[in-house]
Amino acid sequence: MSVAEQAFCARLIDWQLQHGRHDLPWQNTRDAYCIWLSEIMLQQTQVTTVIPYYARFLERFPNVDALARAPVDAVLELWAGLGYYARARNLHRCAQVIVAEHGGKFPREAIVIAQLPGIGRSTAAAIAAFAFGARAAILDGNVKRVLARCFAIEGFPGAAQTEREMWSLAESLLPPARIEAYTQGLMDLGATLCTRRQPFCGACPMHAMCIARRDGRQAELPVAKPRKVLPERATTLLLLTDGQRVLLERRPPAGIWGGLLSLPEGGATDPEGFVRRHGCRLLETQALPVLRHTFTHFRLDIQALICRVEVTPHQVSEAGYQWLAYAAIESAALPTPIRFLLRAVAQQDGQQGRPQHLE
Ligand code: ADE
Repeated sequence: MSVAEQAFCARLIDWQLQHGRHDLPWQNTRDAYCIWLSEIMLQQTQVTTVIPYYARFLERFPNVDALARAPVDAVLELWAGLGYYARARNLHRCAQVIVAEHGGKFPREAIVIAQLPGIGRSTAAAIAAFAFGARAAILDGNVKRVLARCFAIEGFPGAAQTEREMWSLAESLLPPARIEAYTQGLMDLGATLCTRRQPFCGACPMHAMCIARRDGRQAELPVAKPRKVLPERATTLLLLTDGQRVLLERRPPAGIWGGLLSLPEGGATDPEGFVRRHGCRLLETQALPVLRHTFTHFRLDIQALICRVEVTPHQVSEAGYQWLAYAAIESAALPTPIRFLLRAVAQQDGQQGRPQHLE
């Protein structure tokens, strides 16, 4: 173990003993059943939500035999509201496997525990550490954040290579003793100080050694999931307005913004002609700043060209087009970026008090 790694685990243990959490309902026990249940409940759910569920569950199913004998529906009933119900089904199956294949006793080694239904490598290690004092490394999302920051691990933690690197670091950091305080300390640090946004570095036991803190890179580490490079398209839309209303076109039912009202797309090559065809006279044009909108499969740069028009007495209304009053912008069936553009124009024309932001 390097000097930095030694410092990390020594400081973490000291900090956990002084400042960590010691009174959570699943602490201060060596009962693997209780610890297992808590770790499963805590996989995707916050501590404060878990506490009452955990108490009710243990009251109804106080041990692995009681759980294994219960109908799965009774288990699901107690899980109702916690979400991720596969956890409850796996919990029930796991109880049956423990009874059938392990004589009703939880296996002691992390590597064996990890074979059970619903238990991954990190959860198995947490159970083995808390219930049996085993030297096993945990690596959940919170721990990845702590390690990525403290040791400046580059690379998205979800990437196989980075994950391998983090597992190897997590293993080499394991202290020779006090594994329970160490393991709980990692969880506590990630949950209470080394938070995703605005970590409390001033109170952190790793303050002096954390590379992200030293370099001011807390917001960059861990590295975010790489964004897909999306194809880019551009379009020019005409925004005909008479100062009170805008001309909209109904989108075809299939394709982007299917069936919604939008700004006309076809007339950009000849705005004058388009305006004339709609029974208007063009007074002036004004290009709005390009608006970039991201769809799941591509990005769209929207150039809106405001065409201020005067409606002539012989205005014709073409099929598929309609005039929308500024007052109806909020209630019409509009795509979000189009609503945004219309708000901008209505605001220019003094029709709305305050700009509203894109949802
Ligand atoms: N999250 C996962 N395991 C936990 C534990 N044992 N205590 C607090 N939060 C947790």
